[in-house]
Amino acid sequence: MTDWSDRCVPQAARLHPYIPGKPVSQLLRETGLTEAVKLASNENADGMPPAALHAMQRACCELNRYPDGDARALKEALADYHGCGIEHILPGNGSNEVLELLIRCFAGVGDEVIYSRRGFVVYALATTAAGAQAVVTEEDASMGHDLAAMQAAITPRTKVICIANPNNPTGTLLSLSQLQAFLDQVPPDVVVILDEAYHEYVRHQLGDTLTVLHHPGLVVTRTFSKAYGLAGARIGYAVADARLLACVNRFREPFNVNSIAQAGAIAALQSSAWVEAHVQRTLAERQRLEAALAKQHMLAWPSHGNFVLLRHHQALTLHARLEQHGIITRPQAACHMPDILRVSVGSKTENTHFLEVLAAVSGDL
Ligand SMILES: Cc1ncc(COP(=O)(O)O)c(C=O)c1O
Repeated sequence: MTDWSDRCVPQAARLHPYIPGKPVSQLLRETGLTEAVKLASNENADGMPPAALHAMQRACCELNRYPDGDARALKEALADYHGCGIEHILPGNGSNEVLELLIRCFAGVGDEVIYSRRGFVVYALATTAAGAQAVVTEEDASMGHDLAAMQAAITPRTKVICIANPNNPTGTLLSLSQLQAFLDQVPPDVVVILDEAYHEYVRHQLGDTLTVLHHPGLVVTRTFSKAYGLAGARIGYAVADARLLACVNRFREPFNVNSIAQAGAIAALQSSAWVEAHVQRTLAERQRLEAALAKQHMLAWPSHGNFVLLRHHQALTLHARLEQHGIITRPQAACHMPDILRVSVGSKTENTHFLEVLAAVSGDL
């Protein structure tokens, strides 16, 4: 019998499948419960903009056709939104795909990719899959990216640097002046991925990244999965130098963004009032959750994303007990934070339910 693991490319031995937040259906199957709340994947608890839903329903009627492989209408809508040309936009099957394409395009065997130990887990997966060398920096005292350490880690072999802002899972935020000071020190031929999956939650506070930050290799990635509510449609994009993206485009599969996602994203982009209302409600609920956790001495530190960070010396037991009561959170042991649970901001009712169950199950721990 062939041992297929021997036949894989060498880096396959170092790859582990991404473990997503547990789906509600799985928990119901496992526990026999009839209801559960998922606060594990930083999804949008308010649903999606109604215009996006209608656009996607209409797009279903044309599923016998391939999507526009160039996603022209979507690129035009995004270019208009960002005030740039369409050649500066590269849509992907979730920003996850964009991250993978970027790393695969610029880093291979013998090249180095720098990211933080507390960075988004996909940077590690994509780097390993590409056969490149990961250069992992420690976090700073506030659990965020240590930009000085990242700068010190740059070598002639550095091809890509990955930074999430706000970061997932730590929820930490770097200011634009910190980022620009860092970019000023990065050689011009290094790609710097600035992953802004949670940008909408800090937009008012941070300012317009794309007009303020400057570096020839800067690639800003955004997603429709969070504030726009389209996680299941899988759609994200990069904004960068046109020639840089033209290289990445060679790695893209022909129809990487399906037609439902393209239609939904265009309509979602035009639903700014809905998105803003969602953001404001999320920020208010995040504040309520953090205040309640602080009262119970369980607030790890404040977050800038659509999630909060709970610290408990028995985090895994707490996680299991919450699941027994139908609440799915996300342990962070795999991210070197064994005492942390990441809890997404849910609807008002879900958050209240979570706090009630938390108080009930944590009493004797
Ligand atoms: C920091 C960060 N980047 C990228 C992604 C990927 O998002 P998507 O592929 O849904 O666009 C996520 C998802 O949780 C994230 O937290």
